[in-house]
Amino acid sequence: MNKLLCCAFLLLDISVKVTTQDNFAPKYLHYDPETSRQLMCDQCPPGTFLKQHCTGKRPTLCDPCPAHYYTDSWHTSDECLYCSPVCKELQHIKQECNGTHNRVCECEEGRYLEVEFCLKHRSCPTGFGVLHAGTPERNTICKRCPDGFFSNETSSKAPCRKHTNCSAFGLLLTQKGNATHDNICSGNSELSQKCGIDVTLCEEAFFRFAVPTKFTPNWLSVLVENLPGTKVNAESVERIKQRHSSQEQTFQLLKLWKHQNKDQDMVKKIIQDIDLCEDSVQRHIGHMNLTFQQLHSLMETLPGKKIPLEEIEKATKACKSNEQILKLLSLWRIKNGDQDTLKGFMHALKHLKAYHFPKTVTQSLKKTIRFLHSFTMYRLYQKLFLEMIGNQVQSVKISCL
Ligand SMILES: *[C@@H]1O[C@H](CO)[C@@H](O)[C@H](O)[C@H]1NC(C)=O
Ligand SMILES: *[C@@H]1O[C@H](CO)[C@@H](O)[C@H](O)[C@H]1NC(C)=O
Ligand SMILES: *[C@@H]1O[C@H](CO)[C@@H](O)[C@H](O)[C@H]1NC(C)=O
Ligand SMILES: *[C@@H]1O[C@H](CO)[C@@H](O)[C@H](O)[C@H]1NC(C)=O
Ligand SMILES: *[C@@H]1O[C@H](CO)[C@@H](O)[C@H](O)[C@H]1NC(C)=O
Repeated sequence: MNKLLCCAFLLLDISVKVTTQDNFAPKYLHYDPETSRQLMCDQCPPGTFLKQHCTGKRPTLCDPCPAHYYTDSWHTSDECLYCSPVCKELQHIKQECNGTHNRVCECEEGRYLEVEFCLKHRSCPTGFGVLHAGTPERNTICKRCPDGFFSNETSSKAPCRKHTNCSAFGLLLTQKGNATHDNICSGNSELSQKCGIDVTLCEEAFFRFAVPTKFTPNWLSVLVENLPGTKVNAESVERIKQRHSSQEQTFQLLKLWKHQNKDQDMVKKIIQDIDLCEDSVQRHIGHMNLTFQQLHSLMETLPGKKIPLEEIEKATKACKSNEQILKLLSLWRIKNGDQDTLKGFMHALKHLKAYHFPKTVTQSLKKTIRFLHSFTMYRLYQKLFLEMIGNQVQSVKISCL
């Protein structure tokens, strides 16, 4: 037989074997000494080892791997592989060994495999958040918090968080956040405290007193510069200038400054001094114990936008009886774009007669207004204002008082 013919025989042999056995096992070439022919034998499947090669008469014989041994692919080996021994330190068994799978170990929770060792997952520092949490195979991936997001903790779990949307909560943005700090919101929230009067009558009278009779163009900036504590930022000042008349701006600025600084000693001291005033206001109107109907009528007589009934109800529930009227007045002020509460109040008094209010009540209300505008109080406001802006601004003092 010449060489070419022999090859043709071989090919024929292969094709016959595959088609007749109808078997998709991978094959291997085996020289059968009995027939002196090359045979195509089936390989052994995972979980077994090769016991005997195939012959012209029967297929390959494969036996199951013994315990603690495995094979995980089709193969022609006459022995199985020994399963890896127990897992290393800081590892646990992920998959036990069986005939078809080796034992798989992995690092404990919070660690990943680096070469031979289970190392702790990286923690992302403040200003960075977790982009992909670490796995047993991979370290944590951190990323710098983009605009509008922050992370104020060192953590291997925490992603960057969105800055709190102050306006969505009806709050004022008092300090813009950055990569490491959340936005700080404050103000105007009836939700943020129980009764939550944002600016009391006394504070309002004091803040309005500080409005100069003659404005210099840079008045607001001078005031910002000289107020103690955390400065109101330029952005907020700009906003106040755009939204409010020059008469209003000082009040708005002081109100914002108070919110930003209310935990600082300087402001606490001023508020304490104002307490003198608050005590007197309480003496005048705290005892009145108005009924819900009376409160409602009183609010009706105030000019401008009205406080809805449910808000009056909410305020009366949240506040003690001696604070209810003050709370409602502050709600009215907020609703009416920070109009002067006392002016609104004076307007209301003229119309209260129609509602048959007890004389003692109307008299108490009148006394309160007179008290807040009294010379004694102006002296107090003046003293406070000088304390507040300090001695370094002689010119401001003179032009304003
Ligand atoms: C062997 O372990 C693997 C992975 O854990 C599993 O998928 C397979 O079913 C197991 N085989 C047997 C025979 O238990
Ligand atoms: C904040 O919330 C307001 C009202 O829900 C929305 O109009 C505004 O787009 C939000 N701002 C951001 C920065 O998400
Ligand atoms: C982020 O803001 C905080 C407080 O508002 C400030 O202390 C900090 O320096 C700011 N960080 C950067 C990087 O600007
Ligand atoms: C991180 O910011 C959140 C939201 O402003 C705040 O509640 C938390 O106390 C801050 N954590 C730290 C450690 O400053
Ligand atoms: C005020 O009203 C409350 C509850 O309605 C009542 O308990 C209290 O005695 C009243 N106080 C005065 C001074 O009328």
